[in-house]
Amino acid sequence: MKVLIVGGGGREHALAWRIAASPLCTKLYAAPGNPGIGQFAHCVNIPAEDVEALAKFAIGEKIDLTVVGPEDALAGGLVDKLDAAGLKAFGPTAAAAQLESDKAFAKHLMRQHAIPTAEARVFDDFLKAEEYVLSRTEPLVVKASGLAKGKGAYVCDNPEQALDALAEIMKKRVHGEAGDRVVIEQRLSGPEVSLLAFVDGRTIYTMETAQDHKAIGDGDSGPNTGGMGAYCPAPVATDAIISQVEREVLVPTVDALRRSGRPYKGVLYAGLMLTAGGPRVLEFNCRFGDPETQPILMRLQSDLLEVLWAVANGTLEDVTLKWDPRPAVCVVMSSGGYPGSYKKGLPITGIEAAEADGDDGDVKVFHAGTARSGGKLVTAGGRVLGVTALGETIAAAKKRAYAAVSKIAFEGAYCRHDIADKAIK
Ligand code: AMP
Ligand code: GLY
Repeated sequence: MKVLIVGGGGREHALAWRIAASPLCTKLYAAPGNPGIGQFAHCVNIPAEDVEALAKFAIGEKIDLTVVGPEDALAGGLVDKLDAAGLKAFGPTAAAAQLESDKAFAKHLMRQHAIPTAEARVFDDFLKAEEYVLSRTEPLVVKASGLAKGKGAYVCDNPEQALDALAEIMKKRVHGEAGDRVVIEQRLSGPEVSLLAFVDGRTIYTMETAQDHKAIGDGDSGPNTGGMGAYCPAPVATDAIISQVEREVLVPTVDALRRSGRPYKGVLYAGLMLTAGGPRVLEFNCRFGDPETQPILMRLQSDLLEVLWAVANGTLEDVTLKWDPRPAVCVVMSSGGYPGSYKKGLPITGIEAAEADGDDGDVKVFHAGTARSGGKLVTAGGRVLGVTALGETIAAAKKRAYAAVSKIAFEGAYCRHDIADKAIK
């Protein structure tokens, strides 16, 4: 099978690593890929957002399965274009991907189907939104409704902060047209967990749970990032909670989408808060999470390509998912200064030594923001590497991941030091 992976981050490196290991894979391409992915795939220089060029390439190369990592190409209709050309893809159509690309749509769907989520109101008009905020006393969360690279949610302590958030989104338009519409919702509290599921339109298979660490600083301090680390599984999500989320969230969401003529295929990612009143959906993503995918796939023992193919063909019932019982922890090493401005092009050393430390591949270093320059591996993004390790316990996996991190160096390298502590305490 000829496979194309769209994207070039740590998530796509983990996907490429697993797909390349499948006996079903005869040729693997990545667009644009990265030097880590380039170890097993042919990287083609097409940006992950360029839907036209991606579709043209897939059609020209008669790609059997296109696996879409990031959300932009999904929202931009890449899967629709491939469907129209008779090619298989892993990922939802633009209409189904609206679950992520349009938070107002997702809220409406959840409200219609009594799917547990924060109470919310949607506004297109700044003055009406302002009036609403001023009429409330409880803490609110203000969100740009469109795609905002994970940075469109403002968790506010008081109405002043909510008004500032509204001004950022609707007046200063820091997220562009993604902020033409806002969702203002009740602020919930409780531990967060991500539950990702394979969905083939009808059948749902949940993966092992994971937890991301969005803030830049230890103890969840400082501004949000794309994700500074993750671990899998998340022990706060008990089997009972997972079953409840399947029943109350995943099944009704997938059914509602199918009945409304937008059958969902791909990964359905529910970002949840476990409140005193039960699990509530904070957001849906229509793709694998980054960096959650790194520890999740570290534990997957089944043939990933077989699973992705079954999703694309609506035959998910025929496959089983087998997991390594050992937990996995991923620590992201980022450029100094991220999520603000940072230098690029700094040489990276020590990856081989870090990986050599694991028995039989128990330590993997996934590339996220790296490039080759003059034969050397250099930094090329905010999140540079995802150093991931398996261990007998979460604490052992954490220790191993950090031991691997200590072998890797680049100027200004930064990481959080408390990844997975929530699961250990
Ligand atoms: P989102 O982009 O919607 O996932 O939101 C990003 C982050 O904001 C989440 O991971 C939560 O930490 C926080 N958040 C979002 N919605 C709420 C909410 N209703 N109550 C409390 N925190 C929230
Ligand atoms: N790690 C959060 C996300 O992928 O959206």
